[in-house]
Amino acid sequence: MTPLQYFLFILFFFSPLLRPHISSSRSLTDESCSLITSPDTDGICSSMVTPHGYKCQEFEVKTEDGYILSMQRIPEGRVAGDGGANRQPVLLQHGILMDGMTWLLNSPEESLAFVLADRGFDVWIANTRGTKWSRQHVTLDPSSRAYWNWSWDELVMYDLPATFDFVFSHTGQKLDYVGHSLGTLIALASFSEWKLVDKLKSAALLCPVAYLTHMTTPIGILAARAFVGEITSWLGMAEFNPKGVAVTKFLNALCHNPGVDCYDLMTSFTGHNCCLNGSTVELFLKYEPQSTSTKTMVHLAQTFRDGVLTKFNYENTVVNLEHYGQAKPPVYNISNIPDNLSLFLSYGGKDSLSDVKDVQLLLDDLKFHNGDKLVVHYVEDFAHADFVMGVDAKEMVYNAVISFFDRQ
Ligand SMILES: *[C@@H]1O[C@H](CO)[C@@H](O)[C@H](O)[C@H]1NC(C)=O
Ligand SMILES: *[C@@H]1O[C@H](CO)[C@@H](O)[C@H](O)[C@H]1NC(C)=O
Ligand SMILES: *[C@@H]1O[C@H](CO)[C@@H](O)[C@H](O)[C@H]1NC(C)=O
Ligand SMILES: *[C@@H]1O[C@H](CO)[C@@H](O)[C@H](O)[C@H]1NC(C)=O
Repeated sequence: MTPLQYFLFILFFFSPLLRPHISSSRSLTDESCSLITSPDTDGICSSMVTPHGYKCQEFEVKTEDGYILSMQRIPEGRVAGDGGANRQPVLLQHGILMDGMTWLLNSPEESLAFVLADRGFDVWIANTRGTKWSRQHVTLDPSSRAYWNWSWDELVMYDLPATFDFVFSHTGQKLDYVGHSLGTLIALASFSEWKLVDKLKSAALLCPVAYLTHMTTPIGILAARAFVGEITSWLGMAEFNPKGVAVTKFLNALCHNPGVDCYDLMTSFTGHNCCLNGSTVELFLKYEPQSTSTKTMVHLAQTFRDGVLTKFNYENTVVNLEHYGQAKPPVYNISNIPDNLSLFLSYGGKDSLSDVKDVQLLLDDLKFHNGDKLVVHYVEDFAHADFVMGVDAKEMVYNAVISFFDRQ
């Protein structure tokens, strides 16, 4: 990765939390990487799961608009039989620019997917369209623009329902759900339209995102402004590949803005605190970040700009009318989420992406939610990536998620 690509990755995920010992972990890393490098082509199960001694199944799930998504299932823990015959299914939905690997990067004792399997859950891992293992479509090729013609609205409309239905029909049971970041946004949007809720037992939302208005980093703000400005005509509404040339150029341009010093910013991003293992970060850099559509980035930038959660805005009354029958895009109204839905929200005090102030706005929308159906959980020292990759995430977050699931 070039410094700029590395920077993009930090911009979206890491904010202030890389550990200083990353470079000193090289020998460890090389060892752990070689274990999973060679079978890489065979998919997530054989590269990340079975080497740890777990059963793992690969599935392909077709969405209604023709995308073919890969899913992985870890049906039981390392000690078979734990959890009984009818294990509770749980669906894990990663965030933006990530994929299902997100849940598997640490050791089995630390990674959520393994922890859940060992605690008796039937674990299902989703991979959003456009990511490495979900790049097939019945007719479209990922090299075409048409393939990338979607925003996170389509994840709400097609990807989530397809994966939910698949797990529900395979197990015959209502699902527990864990989302991270964009995985929380699309869930909240779905629930606000009363979608999925008939197949849902309860949902744990890590780093919940419904508002982005209080995102504070200067470079993040510049990037968001660029996405709703001219930059998209330059990038094109196609693939947003964080490892690609176009995105690198885009970042170069941002970094030449007066007042933005990318190297200084990186230092300030990486200087702080908590809880990532250097080997895990290197593993992450090896497999991620993953592509998404530029349209999704624009859609998120609109959320930042407008402070209201709406469907994609075509920025043109006529086109909006064409798509929605109204001049402005329809709102996803979080207050409409069924007030008896079991929700667990966990957020971090150091998270500059789902900022504490934005989480407060979300909680305000949920103020009429049944008190005993909403658990709010705050981790002072955690930032965005700690929730999925932090070495102590099990102690700080996952144990609480599991006891929440067990209580429902
Ligand atoms: C993208 O999809 C919309 C419909 O949602 C369609 O109007 C438009 O022509 C499509 N654009 C491309 C490049 O496929
Ligand atoms: C970091 O990860 C490596 C490789 O998985 C492991 O050997 C080491 O114990 C981990 N360190 C911590 C603090 O978890
Ligand atoms: C959401 O719905 C509530 C009532 O259900 C309403 O008071 C509020 O204005 C709506 N918010 C938006 C942004 O439309
Ligand atoms: C929640 O309330 C709706 C009606 O408002 C009802 O249909 C549904 O069964 C309730 N769900 C639970 C889990 O109580």
